[in-house]
Amino acid sequence: MDDDHTHVREFFGPRATGWDTRFPDDGPAYAAAVADLGVSDGDAVLDAGCGTGRALPALRAAVGSRGTVLGADLTPEMLGAAVRAGRHHDARLLLADA
Ligand SMILES: C[S@@+](CC[C@H](N)C(=O)[O-])C[C@H]1O[C@@H](n2cnc3c(N)ncnc32)[C@H](O)[C@@H]1O
Repeated sequence: MDDDHTHVREFFGPRATGWDTRFPDDGPAYAAAVADLGVSDGDAVLDAGCGTGRALPALRAAVGSRGTVLGADLTPEMLGAAVRAGRHHDARLLLADA
């Protein structure tokens, strides 16, 4: 792991718990952003740097049950928070460098 990745994890790891409550009003922005993407039923989408996966439910809704949703993040604590929030039901979560 290079220095940049280490710094990302050092920054975001301690912030994962409580991340969603720090930005409680972002929901409509995710819905609008996903609508702007123009994805359709059955499409495959990647949220690169998905964090706690706040955009994943909107992405799943856009592509439907036949679609593919991937959420990739470098910080294990962020993905752990995503699982605790149940977002692994909407997407396949990947610990990966996007
Ligand atoms: C500002 S947070 C945003 C998280 C999420 N997209 C949201 O809107 O709540 C940035 C996220 O990008 C992740 N990240 C930064 N560099 C990355 C990389 N090279 N590959 C994957 N994830 C990365 C961090 O771990 C962090 O979770």
